[in-house]
Amino acid sequence: MIILVGSEKGGVGKSTLATNISAYLAKQKKDVILVDSDRQGTSSNWFQDRLETKFSKLESVCKYDNIKQSLLDLDKRYEYVIVDSQGRDSVELRTGLLVAHVCLTPVRPSQADLDTIYRMVRLIGTAKEINENLKSYCVLTQAPTNPVITEIEEAKNYIKEINELHLVNTIICERKVYRDALATGAGVMEMNNEKAEKEMIDLCEEILK
Ligand SMILES: Nc1ncnc2c1ncn2[C@@H]1O[C@H](COP(=O)(O)OP(=O)(O)OP(=O)(O)O)[C@@H](O)[C@H]1O
Ligand SMILES: [Mg+2]
Repeated sequence: MIILVGSEKGGVGKSTLATNISAYLAKQKKDVILVDSDRQGTSSNWFQDRLETKFSKLESVCKYDNIKQSLLDLDKRYEYVIVDSQGRDSVELRTGLLVAHVCLTPVRPSQADLDTIYRMVRLIGTAKEINENLKSYCVLTQAPTNPVITEIEEAKNYIKEINELHLVNTIICERKVYRDALATGAGVMEMNNEKAEKEMIDLCEEILK
């Protein structure tokens, strides 16, 4: 199963989600490979850090340019292929979408992020002309934990209008533990933080079902 974490927007949390989904699956003793298709190397750096830890093992590889055939080959050898992509329209994103089973698009609940969703919707629409069974999910990330802030509800209502993207119920909040995990080769479920752990478990269960 190929799961691509993709968005045309930078800094939304793609690498955070790709690494956490990989760590979640590795902890479940699944056969998983994390593919870093972003030359920035956030996921590969996380993977290098993880090699120094005792956390569940997984594999990782860097693939650039047209990644379609590489992903198809990896899909034959691994149970789960998790792809981290760069934050812009790219050959990696377009070719990855042609063979992914699931595309997960993180969006922060801010108007600037919401305004960019349609570019991703267009890319997904183009990919679906060939990859008819592509499931496209959207998840709210870096959401404020302060209940007084209404941005989350506003963002939910905005995304629910977009038929091409299924908004998952899970909301990933802004928590320091996500930054700490990304910087140390861990998944949040390995950081003794119940709230973040539950968010990641809920998200994975929703997109892997
Ligand atoms: N839920 C969260 N809570 C707190 N910090 C977060 C959260 N998600 C991401 N971050 C932080 O925000 C920054 C950007 O996240 P990340 O690198 O995952 O985004 P990205 O979409 O992969 O960015 P890029 O487009 O540059 O590849 C990082 O410092 C990361 O630790
Ligand atoms: Mg990234």
